[in-house]
Amino acid sequence: MSTNKEISTQINKLKKEKDAVLLVHNYQVSEIQQVADFIGDSLELSRKAQNIDAKMIIFCGVDFMAETASILNPGKKVIIPNPAAKCPMAAQLSLKTLLKAKEQNPNVPVVLYVNTLAESKAECDVTFTSANAIQIIQKLNEKKIIFGPDWNLGYYVKKHIPDIEIIPVPAHGFCNTHRLFKNGDEAMELKKKYPEADLIVHPECEPGFQDRADYVLSTGRMYRHCKESPKKIFIIGTEIGMIDRMRREIPGKTFIPANPNAECPTMKRITLKNTYEALLNEGPIVKVPEEIRLKAIKPIERMLQMSK
Ligand code: 13P
Ligand code: SF4
Repeated sequence: MSTNKEISTQINKLKKEKDAVLLVHNYQVSEIQQVADFIGDSLELSRKAQNIDAKMIIFCGVDFMAETASILNPGKKVIIPNPAAKCPMAAQLSLKTLLKAKEQNPNVPVVLYVNTLAESKAECDVTFTSANAIQIIQKLNEKKIIFGPDWNLGYYVKKHIPDIEIIPVPAHGFCNTHRLFKNGDEAMELKKKYPEADLIVHPECEPGFQDRADYVLSTGRMYRHCKESPKKIFIIGTEIGMIDRMRREIPGKTFIPANPNAECPTMKRITLKNTYEALLNEGPIVKVPEEIRLKAIKPIERMLQMSK
């Protein structure tokens, strides 16, 4: 059985031989982050995927992220090391629910979180991520929007843009992992212990937790905040992979998980071993049917354009 070090050496060798780029989400395990060509949040990864100069993209993240990379790169092989890495929140919005909401609300723009499947994106006007939700929706300047699937992100949007009417699809979508923080009682105990710390949470957390936080940020913005802040201690309310990255890349600062059990099980279905096998076998390939791709690319490109 090879060690992680040996597998990582093989991955780095194969990447060069095959002209492949490894895109890795912030929630991936540390050993995968360390062989990445680029680590980031959903927005940063979509931006990167738009400008890749390589034959092959190995996407270490969940299904909707790899689909987005594939939609933006029809001419390239986009590979996900384990197709079972599916975001359960993205699956909460069925095409049927979305089409029904559209039918009941004609002429109301559909604004969807990137955490959705390609077939839903194909039916929307613009996508957003947790990093640009406010920016995109403010720029749209609409009174009413069909919005989904994460209701906690809906709360976050409504807090910043109080006059907007949100029609949620589904009625109450959520992320299982971010739900684990509940209203943040554990984090508040940590805050008592470390009053000088910044409490930073992801907008997929429950409203009660968001309201108690010092900052509500996407994973990419969390990273930048912690790097640039003069503060030394941070209590982090998101998936624990984010903390691995910050501990490794931001020396001299302390990162405390608001809940050390907040792990996204589907993100963790990508392993160093299946990443190596994916590179070796050049599969499993992520392919979106062309008819859906041509429709889904429009709201993604619009988002990238609007959040420049
Ligand atoms: P970010 O875009 O902030 O990385 O979030 C993606 C995600 O799936 C959070 O659960
Ligand atoms: Fe999906 Fe939540 Fe996992 Fe993010 S953390 S990929 S939203 S299940």
